[in-house]
This record gives sequence, structure tokens and C-alpha cells, in this order.
Amino acid sequence: MAKRLLSPDMKKVIVTGGAGFIGSHTVVELAGAGYEPVIVDDLRNSEERVLDGIAAILGRRPSFHRIDCNDAEALNALLARETPHGAIHFAADKAVGESVEDPAKYFRNNIGTLAVLLGSMREHGAHHLVFSSSCTVYGEPATLPVTEDAPDQNATSPYGYTKVACERLVRDQCIAVPELKAVLLRYFNPIGAHPSGLIGELPRGVPNNLVPYVTQTAAGLRGKLRINGSDYETPDGTCIRDYIHVVDLAKAHVRALQWMEQRPAPLCEVFNLGTGRGNSVLEVVKTFARVNDVEVPYEIGPRRAGDVVSVYADTTKSRDVLGWKAERNLADALRDAWRWQQRLAD
Ligand code: UFG
Repeated sequence: MAKRLLSPDMKKVIVTGGAGFIGSHTVVELAGAGYEPVIVDDLRNSEERVLDGIAAILGRRPSFHRIDCNDAEALNALLARETPHGAIHFAADKAVGESVEDPAKYFRNNIGTLAVLLGSMREHGAHHLVFSSSCTVYGEPATLPVTEDAPDQNATSPYGYTKVACERLVRDQCIAVPELKAVLLRYFNPIGAHPSGLIGELPRGVPNNLVPYVTQTAAGLRGKLRINGSDYETPDGTCIRDYIHVVDLAKAHVRALQWMEQRPAPLCEVFNLGTGRGNSVLEVVKTFARVNDVEVPYEIGPRRAGDVVSVYADTTKSRDVLGWKAERNLADALRDAWRWQQRLAD
């Protein structure tokens, strides 16, 4: 990417969780689109070397502040100093199983941080917000593909509930603060990595999610992938998800900001971010093996508690209203995920 120099009239955007998987890719796209990303991350679930990767792609180091988003004093001081145009809020915990073990942690880190950020944005006149939500709010949808107006389901985990609650909080804040514009982005299953191989996902310990488990198995770091059930009512018996390339997802955040800027406040809109295609677990594993010419040993295990059978996005609204659609397919994402995994092993 061409090196872009900072200019005083660039719009600053706070990116909480900007050293994380989706956050780091979004930082790259924001900078490429002429924004000035300001990363806020306490590195509890990410690593400082991600900043090196971003710097290698952009040709300059991003602005970084090691702050816990629940630290209202530190966040307020930062917003007072930077007077940002807006914020993209990624910082959150996302392990469904852990949220069942420690719900208080999820309420504090997911809902608490959003409350602190919204308070600070109000105080310092930052009136554009993009919030990371999830297709988890749909639970097991009654009809597929799922549209944004499908009813929120009773969340099956504390994690899922925090996304429902955060969306509600953003909506309420938009009523209370008439200058505020917000976009709620419901991600389906983000996978892949930057095509440069310089940034990607850094799961801690044993991965919970499918694709990092697949890449680690192919790399020989795990013995065998366990497929969580093959007796579902789907064509091959395994669960179906909508896997979206992280770079497409990152670009949608930039688009969301640009879209908001052209519209009057108050504004609060929700969009699905997926490809509109559903792929089964077995399709993912077989596609990965084929496009990368590598073996992925697997076995069929029992169902995983809490898994929905099938969910994929209706992308009509994000295409027609936001003017965004996914450009990369499953094979692209799985190639990029493998390139990143190999880079990690270097
Ligand atoms: N899977 C396996 N083996 C594994 C890991 C996953 O078979 O080792 C299966 C899962 O059971 C599921 C599919 O692969 O059928 C996808 O699982 P992921 O964990 O990658 O993704 P989920 O769809 O479970 O999770 C996503 C988001 C979460 C969100 C959840 C809500 O990553 O943040 O959707 O449904 F909470």
C-alpha cells in the first residue's frame, strides 16, 4: 500500500481493540481510505507485534495507546486530547464457553466498556460510532438467509446476550444524544488474514473457532481436527455458517463511516456483514485442503453445546443501502489463512 502522510485535517477514529483480529485489518483499511486510526488496546488478547505488521503494511506506525476501555479516566483523557471524529468499538471478549463460566467478566468487558466509551464520546463531541455486533443475536433463525429485521432471539450465552444488550444501549444512546450517528454491524464468521501475510488471527491457546483450528492442524501443531457433529439436518450433516474474509469485513467499517457522514443525525442502522453463502464445516475443511494442497486430519466428534445448525446472511441491505458487498470467496480466505499460519511458524 502506498505510504500516506499524515495531514492535520485527517479525521481521527478511535479503534478500540485495534490490535485484535478484525481491529488490525480495519486499522489498515481506515488508513488506506485517508482516516487517522488511533488504536486503543490493552493487549490482553492481542500482541504488540501486530503493530509491527500494521506498520509494515502502511509504511508507518499507527498511533497506539495501551488503555483498558473500562478505565474511564484514561479514555476520557485520550478523547480530550485527540478530539476524534468517531470511534469503532471492537474491544470485547468473544469466547462463548468462557462467557458461561464467567458471565460477570463479559458484562463488564463487553457492556461496561461500551458504556464508558459512549459517555466519553458524548463528553468530547465524537458523534460517529461503528459497533461490532454478531449474528449471534439471531440465534437459530426461523428463515434463511437471515435479514436484519429477523427478531432477536433469547441469547443462548452470556456472550450473545452482551451483543443484544450493547445494540440496545447504542440505540438508546442515539435517542439521548441527537447528534450521534451509529451503525451496528452484525458479523457472520470472520476468517482469513491480510493477503500480505503480515497480520492475521492470533488465537491464545487452543483455538475455539474452526479456521484457526484447521490451520494449526494442517501445520502439525494439533493432531486432528474434531468436527463437532455430523448428524445435523444439513446436506452433509455438519453445521452451516457464512464465512467472510476479514479484509471484506474491515472495508465495510470504512464504508459504514463514510455512509454515516453523508447522512443527518440522529441515525442508528443495523447491517449484516456476510457473503450471503452458507458453507458446511466439511466444505470448509475440504476446500482448505484442496486450495492449499495440504492435509487436514479430522475425526467426527459429538455436537458442541449451543451450536446453531445453520445461519447465513441476507446481504441485500448492506449492498443496497451501504453500498458494500464481499469481494472475496471462501477459497481466497482459506488461502490467506494458510499463508498467515505459515508466516507464524517462521
Ligand atoms: N467447529 C468444529 N470444530 C472445531 C471448531 C469449530 O467442528 O474445532 C465447528 C463448530 O461446531 C461450528 C463451526 O465449526 O459448527 C463454526 O464454529 P466457530 O467456533 O468457528 O464459529 P461459531 O459459528 O460457533 O461462532 C461464531 C462467532 C462467535 C459467535 C457465534 C454465534 O465466532 O463470536 O458465531 O453463533 F458467538
